[in-house]
Amino acid sequence: MERETITAGELTLRPFVAGDIPWVYEVSLDPAVQRFLEIPIPYRMSDAEFFVREMAIAAWDNRSRAEFVISGGAGERLGRVGFGLDGRGAGQIGYWLDPAARGRGVATAAVLMLCGWGFGRLGLDLIEWRAEVGNIASRRVAEKAGFRLEATLRQRLVHRGVRVDAWVGSMLASELLR
Ligand SMILES: CC(C)(COP(=O)(O)OP(=O)(O)OC[C@H]1O[C@@H](n2cnc3c(N)ncnc32)[C@H](O)[C@@H]1OP(=O)(O)O)[C@@H](O)C(=O)NCCC(=O)NCCS
Repeated sequence: MERETITAGELTLRPFVAGDIPWVYEVSLDPAVQRFLEIPIPYRMSDAEFFVREMAIAAWDNRSRAEFVISGGAGERLGRVGFGLDGRGAGQIGYWLDPAARGRGVATAAVLMLCGWGFGRLGLDLIEWRAEVGNIASRRVAEKAGFRLEATLRQRLVHRGVRVDAWVGSMLASELLR
């Protein structure tokens, strides 16, 4: 599948390019990203390179992921949103924002754009959201975008080698907010 760009208002979701690697590295040093995402610690430039080249670019080409850079009206990088794809109609959503772009609804808008594209263009039946219990900002974003919180799963995520409880929510195609 061709890599695509999605635009709505001021926001654009565009494919990753190698030039994004230093920015991914910088954002990955943010304490909230390190607290809630399963990324290597200490985080190195080579980890950012792996994310961009393998998890964003190569994984798009083999259809196991669809990752986007969220960019603003002037082309500035605001964050990242994407799906892990199971190949059977389900997507698992993930996102982070550059700290400078938080607190003004960008994540919610980007999640809505991605979900619309996932249901429409990819033909997904279901999008799942999972986060470690206590990740309130992520949960608010998911709830505002229309995900239905379904359960707290015991010890269902592994964070730094330790099992932690997870919130799980989902959205069906018929439920996308308009
Ligand atoms: C999750 C994330 C993308 C949200 O970014 P954002 O759009 O700037 O979100 P906001 O700061 O506007 O917060 C979203 C909501 O959570 C609320 N919130 C944030 N932190 C909170 C806290 N500690 N306690 C209570 N509410 C909180 C905000 O008030 C807001 O709710 P509102 O719109 O109803 O007022 C961003 O925090 C991030 O990048 N976190 C690190 C990576 C991460 O955890 N990703 C998700 C992994 S599942």
